[in-house]
Amino acid sequence: MADIASELSVACGAAFEALGLDAKLGQVRRSDRPDLSDFQCNGAMAAAKQARRNPREIAGEIADKLKDHPAIADLTVAGPGFLNMKVTPELLAQHVTDIGVSERAGADAAHDTQTIVIDFGGPNVAKPMHVGHLRSAVIGDTLKRLCRFLGHTVIGDAHLGDWGLQMGQLIVGLSEEQPDLIYFDEKFDGTYPDEAPVTMDDLARLYPKASAKSKSDESYRERCQLATAELQAGRAGYRALIRHFINVSIAALKVDYERLNVSFDLWKGESDADPLIPDMVEDLKSRGIAEESDGAWIVRVARDTDKGKTEMPPFILLNSRGGVGYHATDLATIVDRVETIKPDLMLYVVDQRQALHFQQVFRASEKAGYFAEDKLEHIGFGTVNGDDGKPFKTRDGGTVRLSDLNQMALEEAEKRIGEANLSSDLSEAEVRDIGLKVALAATRFSDLQNTRTTDYKFDLERFTSFEGKTGPYLLYAAVRIKALLRRAASEGNAAGEILIQSPTERELALQLDGFNTALEQSFAKRMPHFLCEHVYNLAQAFSAFYAAHPIAAEKDEALRASRLAICEAVLKQLETGLDILGIITPERM
Ligand code: ARG
Repeated sequence: MADIASELSVACGAAFEALGLDAKLGQVRRSDRPDLSDFQCNGAMAAAKQARRNPREIAGEIADKLKDHPAIADLTVAGPGFLNMKVTPELLAQHVTDIGVSERAGADAAHDTQTIVIDFGGPNVAKPMHVGHLRSAVIGDTLKRLCRFLGHTVIGDAHLGDWGLQMGQLIVGLSEEQPDLIYFDEKFDGTYPDEAPVTMDDLARLYPKASAKSKSDESYRERCQLATAELQAGRAGYRALIRHFINVSIAALKVDYERLNVSFDLWKGESDADPLIPDMVEDLKSRGIAEESDGAWIVRVARDTDKGKTEMPPFILLNSRGGVGYHATDLATIVDRVETIKPDLMLYVVDQRQALHFQQVFRASEKAGYFAEDKLEHIGFGTVNGDDGKPFKTRDGGTVRLSDLNQMALEEAEKRIGEANLSSDLSEAEVRDIGLKVALAATRFSDLQNTRTTDYKFDLERFTSFEGKTGPYLLYAAVRIKALLRRAASEGNAAGEILIQSPTERELALQLDGFNTALEQSFAKRMPHFLCEHVYNLAQAFSAFYAAHPIAAEKDEALRASRLAICEAVLKQLETGLDILGIITPERM
């Protein structure tokens, strides 16, 4: 289902073509001056340059060709050659009707569907997630939902950090506490009990301790490095042990992710790339892509075109002890994905501060011919800051755990629900459920509404407010429509033929028509805030319409039926949009 802007673009493009000009000049979009017109086309100015003619004259000729178009109610030429168009109420009504019956709330599916890997979340084994993990989870999960909605095949991979020094630190830490565990026996044969020897609490205690100790105690650090090397070389007891660490961590991580309505298709990790590394390293060495340097193997990724900028440093593929790091596992993971998933595109939703790492890995992938660099995208994001404009910290300066943040959001949401007295006739279980949904909406929307690449300030009080550009405000708008439709149904009133008459109805219809553009922009730029903007403007336009007209209480039957149908279309699109943002609308609140 094409939106009005594209429908008009086709007509306008044909008019340009009929004058011997490029059809692309006929691009039509929503007007910058909604008080003057609904849509505009600025192509006459560019056409004038190309054809060395007067732009107003061209605009006039285009207007002549378009003026009888059935969708156009009014057409004027303004300024140097802007074409301003107002569309007919019938056209608007038709579009709102289509949105109401469309399963996709009026959105097009992508023309060429792709298989897309989205690497997001990126939690690390044994380390509790902190506020820095929020953005990757929420942005990545939203891009996954958006791509799926558009018809792409998406594989979301958590890409666990389960292969570095932290694993050796955990092994050594545990061996000090429980040296008799069979996993530490060098003759361990690989059969091990199903039951994990540690809980998440153990891991959360062991890791900071071991990590601190390996900073201050050199011989301890060497033991941790040795354990890491032995693990990577395949020592059976260590491999079995880290499998337990990974499983225990995943179970704990899932609890935090569930609160954020975030899920993954794959829980692979850095360690899964390990079996591919020997062949990959051989391949890179044999083709001269990896070079020996001071006993280590490095890959050079600088290019002539870097001249004038700071040259991109080489990265270490294999260190002098034969150990591999973050670059090697990421490169081997590309090889793995190419073999097992055969994707067309891979997106990495990771903190902006890792930009250099990804540039290096992507260039190496291109250089080795594993996967084209332009199909590998680092989707970086800014930082969540506190009041002081610095990365958000707890009062005593520690990092904020994601689980604490989720809890704070829930408590604040419950407080707001209490204040708004929304819950007077709801059961305790319902209040809890609504609290979770309000907290979810608050957390996800407040993150997603920001331009991805910018930092934002964490302000729970503002995020959970039922007013302003917030998740809870949007839920409230959707729930209000649900209540209104329930009331109408209970009074035996049904939706009917849509009429678009008043200014607020027109505005609402035009806003509904913008869904496609918002989705396209969000996808093209990998930026969910365009969709946030759309759903917010839709809720605002609905509010204005709601304030201007009686709906369920409208006496005129045709008007009431029309307005109920408009409400249905708005609700459908609002819920669809919120669902893509990972926000769940309650039935009541
Ligand atoms: N675990 C990493 C970290 O905490 C993020 C992983 C991102 N994904 C990747 N393929 N490197 O920084």
